[in-house]
Amino acid sequence: MKLKYILVAFTVIIICFSCKEKKAPVRGLVTTKAMVVSARIEASNIGKQILEQGGNAFDAMMATDLALAVAYPYAGNLGGGGFMVYRLNNGDIGALDYREKAPLAATKDMYLDSIGNVIPNLSTRGAMAVGVPGTVAGVFEAHRKFGTLPIETIIKPVIALAKRGVFVTKKQEIRLAEKQQDFKLANKDSILFTKAWKENDSIKYVNLAKTLTRLMKNGRDEFYKGESAKTLAQFVQNNGGIITEEDLANYEAKWRTPITFNYDNLRIISMSPPSSGGVAMAQVLKSVEEYDLDKFGHNAVKTIQVLAEAERRAYADRSYYLGDPDFVNVPQDKLISDTYLENRMASFSFEKATPSTEISHGTVDIVESDETTHYSIIDQFGNAIAVTTTLNSGFGSKLYCQELGFFLNNEMDDFSSKPGVPNVYGLIGAKANAILPEKRMLSSMTPTIVEKDGKLLMSVGTPGGSTIITSVLQTILNVHEFKMGMQEAVNAPRFHHQWLPDEIRMEPNRFKTETINTLEQKGYTINEERSPVIGIVDGILVLPDGKLEGGADSRGDDAAAGF
Ligand code: DON
Repeated sequence: MKLKYILVAFTVIIICFSCKEKKAPVRGLVTTKAMVVSARIEASNIGKQILEQGGNAFDAMMATDLALAVAYPYAGNLGGGGFMVYRLNNGDIGALDYREKAPLAATKDMYLDSIGNVIPNLSTRGAMAVGVPGTVAGVFEAHRKFGTLPIETIIKPVIALAKRGVFVTKKQEIRLAEKQQDFKLANKDSILFTKAWKENDSIKYVNLAKTLTRLMKNGRDEFYKGESAKTLAQFVQNNGGIITEEDLANYEAKWRTPITFNYDNLRIISMSPPSSGGVAMAQVLKSVEEYDLDKFGHNAVKTIQVLAEAERRAYADRSYYLGDPDFVNVPQDKLISDTYLENRMASFSFEKATPSTEISHGTVDIVESDETTHYSIIDQFGNAIAVTTTLNSGFGSKLYCQELGFFLNNEMDDFSSKPGVPNVYGLIGAKANAILPEKRMLSSMTPTIVEKDGKLLMSVGTPGGSTIITSVLQTILNVHEFKMGMQEAVNAPRFHHQWLPDEIRMEPNRFKTETINTLEQKGYTINEERSPVIGIVDGILVLPDGKLEGGADSRGDDAAAGF
């Protein structure tokens, strides 16, 4: 009898032990038909609501984008710009560029003083930093081409959200507190955000609701030619900026051909110039394709080495060759061709690091990166979109148009103010990314859609300035090479190399000491301090059974919603 009890107890212990050993797979939200993953649950829910009403991914794009302008003023915007990559259910693909552009009065040396030095803060804070905004043109253009629901049906819930108010999260409380000084420096008067907002306070966006109502009634021209345009141009000029009504009237979102390339049995569809995202990601992934990353292991020394070396080379090219294709010739086919990349990687060895000075030269000092935002949508019809949108830094130029209810971008800093001098992300530019009137500044935004064996597999993207490209490609590799699900792939620790500064940035305390030591012995400089988080990735994965898994990054307040 006694022995029987002992045996039962022993078996229970063994079972419990093995339960503990077997970690439950990390899974994000799984739904059967449709999903939206974005930086705030309020925005994801509004996108989902539009899909439930029979809208498609492009209807949901307008709703989600505008809802982010309300619920996530840190990066969601009316005063910024972005890129969208799409794949329709029939396999057609395309991309929309609604990037900001330089005003007509912009000049190459507009951020330099009389002796040719960059004037601190001029391209990052206040009215001179502002590029002509593209977001309203972008969402209306996507809707014009592909939308199915009336504009009113889409914008009404966003207006209701702005009037009802949005709760402040802990992360938002911290960000608002950090930026109080910048808000004071950028604005003549106090703004809605010059206050110690606390977690769970609710902020009502009354003036933004009015602007959205005018947009709903008058369409995109309200923003570019109507009352809002007049107010905006006047406001920027009153604050010392150079954007005119003519700049706004001239703005157009542009359809582009996305960058496409194969990696094993995947076909990757990503953003083309004026973003560097697709080209740089293609360069890195094609350079590492022949290596057995899955055998090396996730975040193993050899995996980190080969990726960091490919990244080093791709970012050096980015800095020299890439810019707005309407102004400069970007040799993108050459840059992603097999022979070119083979040559580029010829100097790579697992024995030791290639110093960045041997790839090219320059000196850099970088400032901590701020915020952008990405959302992914797959609708119940099988259409997929990936959208990354930004004000550049968190709250953009910090200049807030109280009357219209939104922040203005500081995207002009993404131009190269002076060849060889790094921007806020430490990125160095050359002539290809010099400032010219009406030119679009080079971006790193990498909204991406992935097909596997010809079928939709994933929509993915992230904020993170220069780290966007490397975060997106690691997430794709996590799924494809390391067999992770979407949420697991998003959660995994990330690292980054961007040629200059010559260092591998790692998320702190998330990599093995042994790995770091080995890399250092091989000549790599590891920096775990620069970036507490690398990217805030959101994505949707089509599972083998056809269901959708969302990956919403807990590095932010991101959330998935679907049905
Ligand atoms: O377009 C770009 O590459 C930058 N303006 C993106 C900024 C960004 O991701 C900020 N977030 N960390």
